[in-house]
Amino acid sequence: MDGIIASASSEIEGSSPPPRRAPPCVFVIFGGGGDLTKRLLVPAIYNLACAGLLDEGFSIVAVDWADLSDEVLRAQFNEALQEFVARRGTAAATLREDMWTWLSSRISYLRGSFEEASTYASLSERIGSGNAVFYLAVAARFFGAISDRLGESGLVTEANGNGTFRRVIVEKPFGHDLQSARELNRRLLGVLRERQIYRIDHYLGKETVQNIMALRFSNGFFEPLWNRQNIDHVQITAAETVGVERRGRFYEGTGALRDMVPNHLMQLLAMTAMEAPVSFDADAVRDEKSKVLKAAHCVGADDVVRGQYVAGMLGGEDVPAYRDEPDVAPDSQTETYVAMKLAVDNWRWAGVPFYLRTGKRLAERRTEIAIHFRHAPYALFRDTPVERLTPNIMTMHIQPTEGVTLQFGAKVPGPTVRLGGVRMKFDYSEWFSDGPSTGYETLIYDCLIGDATLFQRADNIEAGWQVVQPALDWGAHVGAAPLCAYAAGSSGPVEADALLARDGRHWLALGA
Ligand code: BG6
Repeated sequence: MDGIIASASSEIEGSSPPPRRAPPCVFVIFGGGGDLTKRLLVPAIYNLACAGLLDEGFSIVAVDWADLSDEVLRAQFNEALQEFVARRGTAAATLREDMWTWLSSRISYLRGSFEEASTYASLSERIGSGNAVFYLAVAARFFGAISDRLGESGLVTEANGNGTFRRVIVEKPFGHDLQSARELNRRLLGVLRERQIYRIDHYLGKETVQNIMALRFSNGFFEPLWNRQNIDHVQITAAETVGVERRGRFYEGTGALRDMVPNHLMQLLAMTAMEAPVSFDADAVRDEKSKVLKAAHCVGADDVVRGQYVAGMLGGEDVPAYRDEPDVAPDSQTETYVAMKLAVDNWRWAGVPFYLRTGKRLAERRTEIAIHFRHAPYALFRDTPVERLTPNIMTMHIQPTEGVTLQFGAKVPGPTVRLGGVRMKFDYSEWFSDGPSTGYETLIYDCLIGDATLFQRADNIEAGWQVVQPALDWGAHVGAAPLCAYAAGSSGPVEADALLARDGRHWLALGA
């Protein structure tokens, strides 16, 4: 297929004013000694500092169980940052010493139990009366207890009238089914107001996910085509090559369906299928997301395929079966792959299937949304050598490449009528130069400035679970369809291919 490179110019882009500096704030991280903090949160905060977006009055209090001193914690963060910069940086990237000095002088450690009141009394002394964000970078079983203690200690009470804020960021997983998600929402809302709660889905921190809305709503030519008259179906893929890594224990109780679908894939679906909000106001956007998720549903048990990887080859190496991974039961019934067909029953999408698939140990790491348009009528080409028309597909690439591709047919040069499929490609990295990022920068910054657009509201979370709950129930049902095996390094179970073949369609190839 011939490649055509789209052309763009930064001179024709609309301009936006530079972002404003976030207000002063004590950023408290529960789980401050953990992996997420070191790998992602501290690098993201460092990037915000480098971008000049943090106030002189910004500081971090890391709360955890381990016996650490401020110095040891700072040294650990420094090491993680060095790794981050070396891994993600551009050729000359090294840690900026001036920035690290600025940041490290603002980092302190508080040793304490997440469940004991004394921890919160100490926190209260450190925070004083100003703004604070509490980031729950801990296992989900602590979410409820931490929020209760924050409530009891008065730490999340916002002083009336002076604009001081107290906010809580909650990581995933948010519940393990619809009922537990509702219970957790109830518990948090017993202590906090909705506008104080920032439920994270790290997919919303990805530039390319945010770009879906920009692409759809800042351009005149997509939206008139974005409906059942012109779109045949939509494929959403989140394929990973990694296995369960060191997370066997967590994954055994979770599985691909819970781990990826109600949150990440539902966000992709919502961004793709939602109506234009009346503004970029957080509630206007979240209203539309909830509406479309409420219209989405899985019609029957036959529309869900659950798979588990067996041993295979990836990148030229043998990889073990899921059941042979550490902390995984030898007879595990946990799915590492799921494919589903969803209907979105509203005026725009009635009759347009949305096919979703996600899995571990697949042939390729690729996350994308492919909009398959209806074919043009073939009639005109009946008496030519052209046997079929190139499918028109617009693919929004989320990762690892970030951009948009349009696939269409064009005449092959020559005296006869022949058509060739071509692709027109917009690649983020070619058009916009940007520093290395974790994806958490925007989310942390938005929370500091009080913009909840990229965070999930209680009803968004519940709407996501509502879509997958029937699939969870069917999977748990006695006599449910057995797990379908797929070899590590393949494109998933053949049953997932059959799900589309039944409708006369096929998945875009993985690993091709
Ligand atoms: C996490 C899941 O939420 O998302 C992981 O728990 C998964 O199992 C990860 O690997 C995928 O995120 P990304 O950003 O690599 O697509």
